[in-house]
Amino acid sequence: KNTANTSMFHYWKFFAKGVEYTLLITAVSVVFGVLIGTLMALMRLGKNKILHTIAVAYIEFVRGTPLMIQVMFVYFGIGLFVDVPALTAGIIAVSLNSAAYVAEIIRSGIDSIPTGQTEAARSLGLSTRQTMTSVVLPQAIRNIWPALGNEFISLIKESSIVSIIGVTDLIYQLKVVQTATYKGVAPIFVAMVIYFVLTFTLSKILGHFERKMQHD
Ligand code: ARG
Repeated sequence: KNTANTSMFHYWKFFAKGVEYTLLITAVSVVFGVLIGTLMALMRLGKNKILHTIAVAYIEFVRGTPLMIQVMFVYFGIGLFVDVPALTAGIIAVSLNSAAYVAEIIRSGIDSIPTGQTEAARSLGLSTRQTMTSVVLPQAIRNIWPALGNEFISLIKESSIVSIIGVTDLIYQLKVVQTATYKGVAPIFVAMVIYFVLTFTLSKILGHFERKMQHD
């Protein structure tokens, strides 16, 4: 007879731990993703041919392979040389993956500003650097910011793939609760609702800041 407590409320600590890991991976990865992604975008937009080629190759390769296999590659790849905790490997993989997407967000944000703007600024005597920092970027940021918000939301969902290397995120925890309760669907449903609450809340918060930005 199944004597386990099968109420999902009884296992709230498992789900809470899962949320903690999911948010940790997402938050850290979004920061590194933006930093490395900005670097990649600058390399791609810059004049140096070699750096440009490296950036293009990186962006295309990362976006052209599944995050799942990247997570496995980083974990077992680094594992050949040093013992790496699954959490660390997961964060590295998700960050490096996000960087490629962020690079494209920044590049398309900058590309969306008509060249007439640059020409006008240059003919008024602004330097290339001044044109970038005081004409192009202030306008581009209005496109870039919301897209970065979407990337943040994507990462909450996409980071779930790190459960395959044993990171104890929300997906991993739902499997633990399945095993403990012999219930197949209920833990899935709980985790799904939690994911939705996370992404919906974040999108409301980001929408608030977006509206504020539009007004000034
Ligand atoms: N699931 C897709 C993949 O495996 C998309 C990954 C999206 N990554 C991101 N940083 N937005 O490639």
